[in-house]
Formats: sequence, C-alpha cells, structure tokens
Amino acid sequence: MSQKLNLSDLESRLDSLSAGEGLALVAELFSGKVVFSTSLGQEDQVITQLIAFKTLRIYIFSLDTGRLFGETLDLLSRTEAKYKTRIQVYYPTTSSLEKLVNEIGINGFYDSVENRKSCCFVRKVEPLKRALEGNEVWVTGLRAEQSPNRSAMKRIEWDEANHIIKYNPLLDWTFDQMIAYINENNIPYNPLHDKGFISIGCAPCTRAIEPGEDARAGRWWWEDSKKECGLHAK
Ligand code: ADX
Ligand code: SF4
Repeated sequence: MSQKLNLSDLESRLDSLSAGEGLALVAELFSGKVVFSTSLGQEDQVITQLIAFKTLRIYIFSLDTGRLFGETLDLLSRTEAKYKTRIQVYYPTTSSLEKLVNEIGINGFYDSVENRKSCCFVRKVEPLKRALEGNEVWVTGLRAEQSPNRSAMKRIEWDEANHIIKYNPLLDWTFDQMIAYINENNIPYNPLHDKGFISIGCAPCTRAIEPGEDARAGRWWWEDSKKECGLHAK
C-alpha cells in the first residue's frame, strides 16, 4: 500500500470499526510491518489485550529508559506471562547515556528544560527510532482527551519525524470507557494507578495527582512546558 496517498481512505474505513477491528485490518494490510509501543499504561494494556486476544501479527515493544518504576517492570513481566507473549525491550545506547549523565549529572533533567529534553532524547526518542526502523505502521495508546496537543491528532496519520504511519486506535476512547474495559476483561494494570498516578513515565519525572488535576499534571510537574518528551512531538 502506498501509505501517504491512501491514508484518508484508510481513515474513513477505520472510522466505522472498533479498535480491535481496526487493529486487525491494519495488521492485515501491512502484514509483518506493524509495531506497537507499550509504556504499560492503561491505554497500552488495553491494546496489548486486543492484540493478544485476536493473536494479531503486531510486534510489541517497550522502551526501558533505565529510570522506570519497579512496578512498571513488574507489570511488563506479568503481562508477558498473562498473554504468553514476549515484549521486546529497547535500551538507550550505552555510550550516549554515559556521555549525557556525565555531562548533566544523574538527575540533571531537573535543572533545565534543555537537559530534560536531552535525557528524553537519549533514553526514549533515539531507542524509539531503532525500534521503528524497517516498519510501516506504529501503533500507540494516545487518546485525544489526554491533552490539547493530542486532541488535534488523527486516528491514523503520517508521522514525519519518524517516517512512518502512526495509528492511534484508542484516540476517541474516554477515560471511563478505558477503565470499564480494563475491569470487564480483567486486564493487568500498574498498582500505582490506585495510588493517584494517572499518566506514568519515568519515576523521577512522575508524581501522583490530586483529584480534579489535569491527567498529565504529574508528568515533569516542575515545568511549564507542553509536557511531551519528544516521542509524540508536533
Ligand atoms: S509520553 O510521551 O508522555 O511519554 P505517554 O506516557 O502519554 O507518552 O504515552 C503515550 C504513548 O506513547 C503510549 O501509549 C505508548 O504508545 C508510547 N510510549 C510512551 N512511553 C513509552 C515507553 N517507555 N515505551 C514504549 N512506548 C511508550
Ligand atoms: Fe529522563 Fe525524566 Fe525523560 Fe525519563 S522522563 S527520559 S528520566 S527526563
């Protein structure tokens, strides 16, 4: 399929399908070239269940930044066991990480937005590029509700930064819909969600939020920035 040209046709077809049906269609159309990035967040756990339930040919990977919560890594292991699957894990390049940490300090990301973005680049963005290489579709767990930046995204779109089609099957799911699906299907989730954490990233850069606070308020809470790490830059 010549991607860019036919994306609007595909978007119309996806509009009338459920997330599971859409994933099945994309897996068939781009056979063997579809990858899904999981951060083990609630959205991602729904997608992993959909892929496993339908045994879709979609390869699942995660980016281990080296600063994730222990609970997240435990969940990765529990998810592999539950769905009898292997989640491929990608790591930062050792030499780039050593250079960064020795320049800015082990927690230097607190010192400036520039340092924080450099850390996200080395620990997430560069490994993501390696994970996407050679593939045609990148599936993510983005939801429009999560932020104004994300509400402008499309269900399926060309990602210029990574030269790949990006597919967001849960884009129009509400938070309540997602929680109901997780409960109904007994999907394993991060115990931190029950302690006030909504959006979970690296441990030093994520905190619990108060009721009524914005869902992403706990990410890089000390910054006024757009609160994106560069994976989904716009
Ligand atoms: S982030 O850009 O702020 O870190 P967020 O945590 O909301 O992203 O997750 C949005 C989507 O980005 C996830 O559904 C997932 O597809 C991808 N993602 C984020 N972090 C990771 C990670 N560590 N490994 C793999 N995918 C990730
Ligand atoms: Fe580094 Fe924090 Fe970004 Fe994780 S979220 S890669 S620790 S700056």
